[in-house]
Amino acid sequence: MPAKPDLFGHVLCNYLKGDKTPYGIRRDDGWFESPENPNVYFKHGIYEIERKGMKHAKGLVLDVGLGAGRHALYFQKKGLKVVGIDYDSYCVKTAKARGVKTAFTEDIFKPNHIRKYTFDTIWLAGNNLGVAGTVHKLPKLFHILDKLTADNAVILATGFEVEKTTNPDHLAYHRRQRKKGKYPGQMKLRIEYKGLIGEWFQWLHVSSKLLKEALEKTPWKLGKLIRARDGHYLAVIVKKRP
Ligand SMILES: C[S@@+](CC[C@H](N)C(=O)[O-])C[C@H]1O[C@@H](n2cnc3c(N)ncnc32)[C@H](O)[C@@H]1O
Repeated sequence: MPAKPDLFGHVLCNYLKGDKTPYGIRRDDGWFESPENPNVYFKHGIYEIERKGMKHAKGLVLDVGLGAGRHALYFQKKGLKVVGIDYDSYCVKTAKARGVKTAFTEDIFKPNHIRKYTFDTIWLAGNNLGVAGTVHKLPKLFHILDKLTADNAVILATGFEVEKTTNPDHLAYHRRQRKKGKYPGQMKLRIEYKGLIGEWFQWLHVSSKLLKEALEKTPWKLGKLIRARDGHYLAVIVKKRP
């Protein structure tokens, strides 16, 4: 059976149509997290750091990896203009069906339609610093976002202190990654759903330390870090030049 590249979007699309089947996430060491309930992608404001971060949003917002559009819909309701992108066309379809006015199927590393805009806010929630995929691509992500934004723009991004865990499976994975000379939070994952398997994709859990190091090589700096008790954080990132 060929792996499906857009299985996550299918999960969200089906959920919107009333099929509430949960999905699972497989890591390349075999670790499997299941059942995962798609409903979290349909509710904004469930995480306190996201609620706090939303208050910093201004002007024209780019929601990178918008999923089912829970935040784009919130920003629209608040009267902000928002453009959403997701590289999974079924996510874009789902978000649009829910009322997101402007959304494109686009990979943030290959900006196309969004190049005609100048954004004031970049929204990267749902741990979406992870879209960088690898440590190597993290500074590249910030350089792309620099070109898409105004001088006084802000990036609002959530991440996770991935190394702060007591889970033996995760600790073993981190050790293996370090042995290979890799950052522990750089991982290969895939979605599994109703007997189907998704394509492997790279995901990067960005610790605040890694974020600070990556920003040094970019036109951005950390303005503020809003921490949650469980190791998640929201970073307010601003440009170094005035
Ligand atoms: C963890 S989900 C978060 C969805 C949404 N931001 C939320 O919080 O509900 C990550 C989303 O990012 C999308 N994504 C991953 N890499 C991407 C990339 N390079 N460009 C655009 N979208 C990407 C995925 O398809 C997925 O919908």
